[in-house]
Amino acid sequence: MKYSEIIGAGHYVPETIITNDYLSQIMDTSDEWIIERTGIKERRYIDPSKDTLANMSKKATDMALSQAGIHKEEIDFIVFATITPDYFFPGSGVLLQRELGLEGIGALDLRNACSGFIYALSVADQFIKTGMYKTILVVGGEIQSTALDLTTRGRNTAIIFGDGVGATILRATNEPGILSTHLHADGKFAEELYVKDPGSSRPREERQPEQILDTSTYKVFMNGNMVFKHAVIRFIEVINEALDHNQLKKEDIDLLIPHQANLRISKFIQSKLQLPDEKIYNNIMYYGNTTAASIPIAMSEALQEGKIKKGQIICLAAFGSGFTWASAMIKW
Ligand code: UT7
Repeated sequence: MKYSEIIGAGHYVPETIITNDYLSQIMDTSDEWIIERTGIKERRYIDPSKDTLANMSKKATDMALSQAGIHKEEIDFIVFATITPDYFFPGSGVLLQRELGLEGIGALDLRNACSGFIYALSVADQFIKTGMYKTILVVGGEIQSTALDLTTRGRNTAIIFGDGVGATILRATNEPGILSTHLHADGKFAEELYVKDPGSSRPREERQPEQILDTSTYKVFMNGNMVFKHAVIRFIEVINEALDHNQLKKEDIDLLIPHQANLRISKFIQSKLQLPDEKIYNNIMYYGNTTAASIPIAMSEALQEGKIKKGQIICLAAFGSGFTWASAMIKW
């Protein structure tokens, strides 16, 4: 078994739909502004009385398992990409493992933000290639809504992010599969898109909840312009890197699933690569930017809609906090 392939995908998004009009009532923004700058029409927020990242991930996993036509007991290992775990620690992998009742199997968490799912896929792919595991559950999931500043002060991030989970099942195979993954990072931009707290390198008194007067450092900070400018360069670079590595041309891509950061970013990539509309998948209109969840949710929907077929070349690409960026080239 020299390769890994994705044999199933599933997703779950919380029921509550948050429209641009709703956000316009609680902060100084408008449906027009949000659609023009981001393409987002609505996003989902959890109901904290019932939704957790772990139980939403269980629902996404159940869908992926049924799509793959395998039993959960066949899963050997879990790789979970998230920057918004239910607890500060332990990570979400173990909580999902508990939800699934798969006592004993290993569970790894990855914190690579918007590139998290591709990083996770790459790690799982290596485990399969070495022969260590045969079937791996790879999940990307986020609950962003509870950390957003839903006031005018936080509007440049509040309008973008949403909640959801995507899950995929990776399995060992003799045929390719995942052709390549390319992973990159440039930590000098770490503070351009980050949540500072609860950071560990703080005086003890600043980490005591009763001492915290300014909680803004617990909210997402994003230098939107800077992120945008780097994103459009890195997306193209890392897709070209994947094409070159596999001796493919951009025309060979059957479907590009970019991380759903901003519809303007996706449109820019599409025009640079001269891809027709049917060769790029976008659903940011309905879910906003769900960070590590965006690619697996999109993949699950594209599969459901019959937009991914056996033998096709599927390209995944992402850019985000870190900065990190990554791509995966897949022969389905
Ligand atoms: O997942 C990967 C990480 N994230 C991204 O890839 C996101 C990348 N960046 C972006 O998507 C865009 O930068 C944003 C959508 C966040 C912002 O769009 P922009 O076109 O870069 O706007 P801007 O930040 O340059 O702001 C333009 C104006 C400002 O007003 P002034 O200073 O020109 O008077 C902002 O205060 O728009 C204002 N503004 C808003 N107005 C209405 C910022 N947010 C809003 C808002 N509603 N929600």
